[in-house]
Amino acid sequence: MSTFALSSVLAKRASGMEEAPIMRMSRLAREQRAKGRDVVSFTLGEPDFDTPEPIRHAACTALEEGYTHYPPMPGFPEVRAAIAEKLRHENGLDVEPEGIVVSAGAKQALANTLFALIDPGDEIILPAPYWAAYLPIIELAGGVPVFIPTSAQDGFLPAAERIAEAIGERSKLLLLSSPCNPSGAVFPPALLEEIARLVQAHPRLMVLSDEIYEYILFDDARHVSIGALPGMFERTITVNGFSKGFAMTGWRLGYSASTPQLARAIAKMQGSFTAGVNAFAQRAILAALSDEARPAVEEMRQRYASRRALMLELLDGIEGLCLTPPAGTFYMLPDCSGLLADAAAGLPQDDMALAEWLLMEHGVATVPGSAFGAPGALRLSFATSEENIRKGCARLRQGLEALRGG
Ligand SMILES: Cc1ncc(COP(=O)(O)O)c(C=O)c1O
Repeated sequence: MSTFALSSVLAKRASGMEEAPIMRMSRLAREQRAKGRDVVSFTLGEPDFDTPEPIRHAACTALEEGYTHYPPMPGFPEVRAAIAEKLRHENGLDVEPEGIVVSAGAKQALANTLFALIDPGDEIILPAPYWAAYLPIIELAGGVPVFIPTSAQDGFLPAAERIAEAIGERSKLLLLSSPCNPSGAVFPPALLEEIARLVQAHPRLMVLSDEIYEYILFDDARHVSIGALPGMFERTITVNGFSKGFAMTGWRLGYSASTPQLARAIAKMQGSFTAGVNAFAQRAILAALSDEARPAVEEMRQRYASRRALMLELLDGIEGLCLTPPAGTFYMLPDCSGLLADAAAGLPQDDMALAEWLLMEHGVATVPGSAFGAPGALRLSFATSEENIRKGCARLRQGLEALRGG
């Protein structure tokens, strides 16, 4: 009798994929809670707010109106037109509705784009820290990531010279996330201009600009779309979506914006995996982009701003902790390498061990920076209540101070 082993059947691309550290930490936190432990989680990468009412209402209406059939593959024409209008008006992009492809979240827009542009061996230049989920997509597309390390001391921004050094024969894409998950850094206009000059000096380099956190900005930070800089539109694919700014993670709505010619290639990739995006959900984009939803978006931003201030205040003054105030997003990335360097034997020596120890010993869940190419750091999400922030920061302080004391 033959025995069946799935492991002998699984493709290498599936069997070789390890559990991402963020998934591991969320799983460990869930397991601890299931055992009855009180755990505060700073791991969440999603707004804790409900989707604003006008948007929910629009989807219900669309359902009643019969938007239940296959939609056009790249999106409804009026939805593509509304997105193009938003990008023209707010971001200064010279984009046509035919350049928009509506996708199942920004993540699918990123995947579509990478599959449309990357041949095996092509290089993608990626400033670190980066969003961890870029790596498996790059790998599946056969691309090779070329990392540009940055540091907390530089505000987690890459110097233009480092980018210039990374550009080579096989470079095809420079992948930027601004505002950046996980560091919260926002690329200043002058740096984007320098980057634009570098890119245009290269015959086949393009920018993939992930702008999903564009509405979550603090103090005087300003979001600039690199595709709006002179000469950059045809060199840029702008990716955005509704998950973060509009609290719509579960709707799975995003888009890419590029030239109509590239959009056709991107749509072909999308069409190979999905037959377009949920029809009645797509209709809600029209409400999200209307004036009706804007007050709620601004209100959420203000709530993040006060939570950010609270978290910064509560973590201030921990000796050895380097805390860079994020200019955008709902994350911060304190660098703990000073503390880890001083930790006694038996206590955590790296960020992976530190995150696990903080969870098990102190009841606070974080994501190790190594997951994002920032070893020695911890990513903290402040998309959670002020009560959780107070409780979780007290635990963090206790843990981090004990680490040093050890
Ligand atoms: C930088 C970045 N880009 C893209 C996404 C994906 O967003 P979506 O929910 O639209 O797929 C995320 C989600 O965490 C993100 O952090």
